Amino acid sequence: MKKNIRDIDIAGKKVIVRCDFNVPMKDGAITDDIRIRAALPTIEYLLEEGCALILMSHMGRPKGEPKMEYTLKPVADRLTELLARKVRFISSPTVVDDEVRKAAEDLKGGEVMLLENVRFVKGETDNDAGFAKALASLAEVFVNDAFGTAHRAHSSTAGIADYLPAVSGFLIEKEIRFLGDAMESPERPFVAIMGGAKVGDKIPVIENLMNKVDSLIIGGGMAYTFYKAMGYETGTSILDRDSVEIAAGIMKKAEETGVNLVLPLDCVCTEEFSNDSPYEVYDRDKIPADKMGMDIGPKTAELFESVLRDAKTVVWNGPMGVFEMENFAKGTYTIAKILAELDAVTVIGGGDSAAAVEQAGFADRMTHISTGGGASLEYLEGKVLPGIACLEEK
Ligand code: 3PG
Repeated sequence: MKKNIRDIDIAGKKVIVRCDFNVPMKDGAITDDIRIRAALPTIEYLLEEGCALILMSHMGRPKGEPKMEYTLKPVADRLTELLARKVRFISSPTVVDDEVRKAAEDLKGGEVMLLENVRFVKGETDNDAGFAKALASLAEVFVNDAFGTAHRAHSSTAGIADYLPAVSGFLIEKEIRFLGDAMESPERPFVAIMGGAKVGDKIPVIENLMNKVDSLIIGGGMAYTFYKAMGYETGTSILDRDSVEIAAGIMKKAEETGVNLVLPLDCVCTEEFSNDSPYEVYDRDKIPADKMGMDIGPKTAELFESVLRDAKTVVWNGPMGVFEMENFAKGTYTIAKILAELDAVTVIGGGDSAAAVEQAGFADRMTHISTGGGASLEYLEGKVLPGIACLEEK
């Protein structure tokens, strides 16, 4: 068990907190502030404890250069509103400079400042010790609450822990609790739903889940690779050719281990990858040569519902179809609705599935929606996340 901010004497200290404020932006405005709001419990607790807070995060992938379209200024403004107190922001191309050092030194208990995007400095993603030291020099304690970036071994997520006492915030604690409990001690039946485009990206997760679940539901683009492995033609559907054999191996393993592997029966197909292209439902063995699958069909939704009905734990990662297009969102939304109505622990991996559940309007009816896309996937793979591994043990 990793130490948490409640486990150490933190009152009145100067604390540097790594958050994941990598929020979606459009024309300079934040379009979804969930990740900012998810950091508030930790920030508010530390402020109540009289800490002086130096917050830091990355945004996007500016590749070690100060590209102003990735500035964290809009985040500082949003935080100022949410916390109803001024969040001081100094935009330095080197993130830490004399002005920042002075501001951090002068920062009093109850005050908050936000550093500029740590990825403006190349050393960040290289996990450069010099940059980690520069960040550490600003504070007395390091708190990592950036679950979404915990799978990265960077200066601000892991390297800094070499120079300061390092503990987790409430968000990381919560993410580990829900994802960890689901994987380690799930109430059964335990059903995992995997979707998304490429099997290749999800093989390690599927393999790890196969050792834990009672049923594994496969939907989304990756289903077509399984169809191919079953000997069906998939028309112009997305196909991960390199993974057809792997899909066959997964089916074989399911048979051997008694895992109920559930594949779609039908799909909604179009000629073009467009919301305006006319669509029709086909059984999985009858996909026309000139059509592509865009969503699961109604027989599939019924089948998936019958498997999910008795589930006591469900982990869902990856949409069932091209949910970004209205005409092909139905399958994904139907799964979200089924989960919302279950009497079960429902854990949604971040990224696309989290966005889909939000869009479908069922976010508040899930047990937990992870704030980490890649991070939750790596956690479900059973990997050790560097941003968590570096924290002190209880
Ligand atoms: C994410 O959005 O998944 C995290 O913020 C990590 O971002 P990254 O993939 O650019 O490291």
